[in-house]
Amino acid sequence: MEHRRVVAARSTLRKHWLVLAGVPFFSHCGGCFLLGCPTRVDTVSWDHLLPDGGTWAGGQLGLEDCSLICADAGVGSNRCENSTTSTIDCISGGVCKGRLPPGLRSMSGSWLAQNAELEAAAVYAFEHLALELEVHGLPQLARAALEASRDEVRHAAAATRLALKYGVCPSAPTVTLPPEPRSLEELALDNAAEGCGRELLGATFNRWEAEHAGDPLVRAAMGPIAVDEASHARFSFALADALTPRMPLSVRRRAREAQEHALLQLAAAEPPRALRESFGLMEPDHAMKTAHALLDAHRHA
Ligand SMILES: [Fe+2]
Ligand SMILES: [Fe+2]
Repeated sequence: MEHRRVVAARSTLRKHWLVLAGVPFFSHCGGCFLLGCPTRVDTVSWDHLLPDGGTWAGGQLGLEDCSLICADAGVGSNRCENSTTSTIDCISGGVCKGRLPPGLRSMSGSWLAQNAELEAAAVYAFEHLALELEVHGLPQLARAALEASRDEVRHAAAATRLALKYGVCPSAPTVTLPPEPRSLEELALDNAAEGCGRELLGATFNRWEAEHAGDPLVRAAMGPIAVDEASHARFSFALADALTPRMPLSVRRRAREAQEHALLQLAAAEPPRALRESFGLMEPDHAMKTAHALLDAHRHA
């Protein structure tokens, strides 16, 4: 009961911090023309005409055609499936940098909006984790998680400013946090994927973007974010070091698999082509090599 009250109180405070930091919480006010995450399916009308005027002859639609058809219907996509005589499924998803909270329910379809929404969602993730670590008697790690949540408020504000600059308006992430603290085993598996996986590769992406973005505002925003995210990745491995000795072999194996899966899934996500240059987004083959190198160097214990 005590835990529930603290979760509710912190949730209110967190929203105030995000608003004070300049993160707008509009609801679906922006167009969704870029690629997204996590997976979302929009079934839209399609007359089987290709963007170049030709008629679809069956088979897998290429990414460019799929993106244009779905964008024409007002939704994002990075692949198309299940074409019928009059509809097609536009599927977007997979570009998830950063730590996702338990209970994350919805995100926008736009990659730019999601960048900001994922940073805001990470505030929830770290705050809730701090509370859980306190409950489990790990106060030092709880303090570090709380500090990381403050970093994520700044990231959310910076990513929101970038999204607005490009004409996209983020929404508030919808998060329903678990009313009870998760077990140490659940925390270990979550941390392996979200921290030792997604945040580790996300920090590397941020550093790359800070160096390669064509837009100077993106470079300026990503520099400090990359430093913070590298520190979040170090925190994740410190947490893994604290939890792993308490875990049975089967959980350790699942944690290694969770880390590998999260890293490779993020690396395999196609970044939106239209933003690659201005945001300095890493090419997919380079991202995959980077993920494998990170796995070799930082494999979960
Ligand atoms: Fe972040
Ligand atoms: Fe982070």
